[in-house]
Amino acid sequence: MNVHDSEKVIGTLVQEGYRQVESVEQADLVLYNTCSIRDKAEQKVFNRLSDYKKYKKQGKTFGVLGCVAQQEGEKIFERAPYVSLVAGSASYRNLPQMLRQLEEAAVAREIPRPADEDAGLRDDASVGMSPGNTRGSGLATRDSGLVRITGLDDRETDKCFETEFTARSNPHRGYITIIEGCDKFCAYCVVPYTRGKERSRTSESVLAEARQMADLGYTEIQLLGQNVNSYKDPAGNSSARKTFAELLAAVGEVPGIRRVRFTTSHPRDFGRDIVDAIDAVPALCDHVHLPVQSGSTRVLDAMQRLYTREQYLERIAWMKAAKREISITTDVIVGFPGETESDFAQTLDLLDEVGYDAVFAFKYSPRPNTPSLKLDDAIPDTEKARRLEVLMARQREIQIERYKKYVGTQCEVMVEGRNEARSQWIGRTTHNKTLNFTAPQTANPKPGAYVRVTVTNSFPNSLLGELVV
Ligand code: 5AD
Ligand code: SF4
Repeated sequence: MNVHDSEKVIGTLVQEGYRQVESVEQADLVLYNTCSIRDKAEQKVFNRLSDYKKYKKQGKTFGVLGCVAQQEGEKIFERAPYVSLVAGSASYRNLPQMLRQLEEAAVAREIPRPADEDAGLRDDASVGMSPGNTRGSGLATRDSGLVRITGLDDRETDKCFETEFTARSNPHRGYITIIEGCDKFCAYCVVPYTRGKERSRTSESVLAEARQMADLGYTEIQLLGQNVNSYKDPAGNSSARKTFAELLAAVGEVPGIRRVRFTTSHPRDFGRDIVDAIDAVPALCDHVHLPVQSGSTRVLDAMQRLYTREQYLERIAWMKAAKREISITTDVIVGFPGETESDFAQTLDLLDEVGYDAVFAFKYSPRPNTPSLKLDDAIPDTEKARRLEVLMARQREIQIERYKKYVGTQCEVMVEGRNEARSQWIGRTTHNKTLNFTAPQTANPKPGAYVRVTVTNSFPNSLLGELVV
């Protein structure tokens, strides 16, 4: 999600006449995108910002974007006074305006602006903003002569960050954000407070972007949202309005698009129609990431996840009844406040029952502003670490068994690149598994190509094979 946000921000800046450079040393303007989902994210950000301090003397301008920016707000200016811009993701659509404010501040300080292509901004602590420029998309203030622009007040917006141009780094597989924000308010999660309320793009706009990507040669699209399947088409005309499953199918039917993925789905909004769409449209990948978080209904309730273990398993049953085998992956949090041994045992049992192809497991980490911060019964870190280890060991055994059954079969992969050290090509299956393979020297498969591979060996997290020639 954050990677794609950066692609959209870069695209927006390029449209404004900026040019992307390789390193901080070469840049005049440095924007630092941040995530605060777990751990001590804030601390990491402040540490990194203090590394940037030395560049300030060289006249570089700094901005902090993303969830830590939204969460810490103006505290960032206090702790890192050389930062000039702090903006959360709900304000990104105002970035051009905010950047113009920064530039105007530079002009007001009579700093000659470099030629547009490598436009950079310089700050000069001795000159502030010119009158009339103190309010725009964000709020610009002058404090001790420093320029400070904030984009922090847009979390209630209905508008999405639609970009005319997105600087996608992969020429074959690209992301499209279809819904921003989150209204679920799980007890442990910071996202609703940092990314703002749920808002969807029109299906028309999403499909136009998908067609444009197909025209540019993309063959794989990944639809993104914190809660991708809570998508609600805001199209004015009700006959044009699409459900999430309909949009998914429509993207899968765009000529030239061979693979469509979507992440992350919330079990509460996961309807059978999504499985029906996967059944009906071959381009929809045989993979669903459906975070469960816990196998205990009691803990799910404390987490405010809005479903029970049984309801979650019902959705798994729909997927298992699909025409194609759907690979299922999940996220789990261990050590949520009050999680007993018996709750944890239910999570382990759920892993066996579902048979996931990958599990992303995390130790519960208390996050600012979240309701679970106030819960008693914190689990000691050593115990969280033990549970995490037990869970990962169990899942490793499950994956060893699950990956083994591919040996001897043929899979189609999209070629992602080459591992020179191992003389192997790297491929990805529709199940989202890494399948590394060897090929005769004459074959030379190109990144982005779709080829067939015979699986010859399996590991807990990947497969090995030979190109079918
Ligand atoms: N502590 C630990 N894990 C968390 N996640 C989200 N918030 C927290 C938290 N406070 C995990 C969830 C989510 C994934 C993206 O990150 O498992 O699905
Ligand atoms: Fe966070 Fe829950 Fe929203 Fe996912 S659904 S982003 S875990 S609040």
